[in-house]
Amino acid sequence: MTQDELKALVGQAALKYVVPGEIVGVGTGSTVNKFIDALATMKDQIKGAVSSSEASTVRLKALGIPVFDSNEVESLSVYIDGADEIDHQGHMVKGGGAALTREKIVAAQSKQFVCIADESKLVDALGAFPLPVEVIPMATARVMRQFVAMGATAAVRLKDGQPLVTDNGQHIVDVKGLKITDPVAFETEVSQWPGVVTVGVFALQKAQVCLLGTTAGVKTLNF
Ligand code: 5RP
Repeated sequence: MTQDELKALVGQAALKYVVPGEIVGVGTGSTVNKFIDALATMKDQIKGAVSSSEASTVRLKALGIPVFDSNEVESLSVYIDGADEIDHQGHMVKGGGAALTREKIVAAQSKQFVCIADESKLVDALGAFPLPVEVIPMATARVMRQFVAMGATAAVRLKDGQPLVTDNGQHIVDVKGLKITDPVAFETEVSQWPGVVTVGVFALQKAQVCLLGTTAGVKTLNF
């Protein structure tokens, strides 16, 4: 099976976590796009979605799924999203699609985080994928120096030769060479650095379930 087929498999499998009659939290990325396509087949059974990015909002609306502002919704039963890496405890690195801040916001208002990913995303320790950090533009140089002092390398993510601007008007710093042995401590520390909006380690809001696409089918990991 191709990686794309594995993504479609877990996107479809996630439907069983969607609670009929409710609003579902929807993440961002190519795996989530498969989930959104699958969700459209049961759109008459749900009230709608809270979306974690402009890109997912566009796709949801195009398929006729109503999108609610997160401030309108007190709590969600479930949030479905992908990951760049997930470890055996459900800690993740996210933000490859630059949507990490809104993803953390929607995850925080959800009772259950269901991660959908192909098997290449499962790792023993976080840190192989460059860690995305959303940063206020005037702080990027200093934040990058702080990562360099930790032995890592860091660069502002570019799009068409210019710093990529997130849905929230900020920049993304991608950090390479980190070995994240204690994800909770790491997330707690970096989140406090001035200028950091969101660090792409999701450990305080980790996944409770991972639907992992493998060539043998969907494997369910519970954390
Ligand atoms: C976007 C994300 C995505 O969930 C993550 O990058 C995985 O994306 P994909 O499903 O395309 O591999 O965090 O900000």
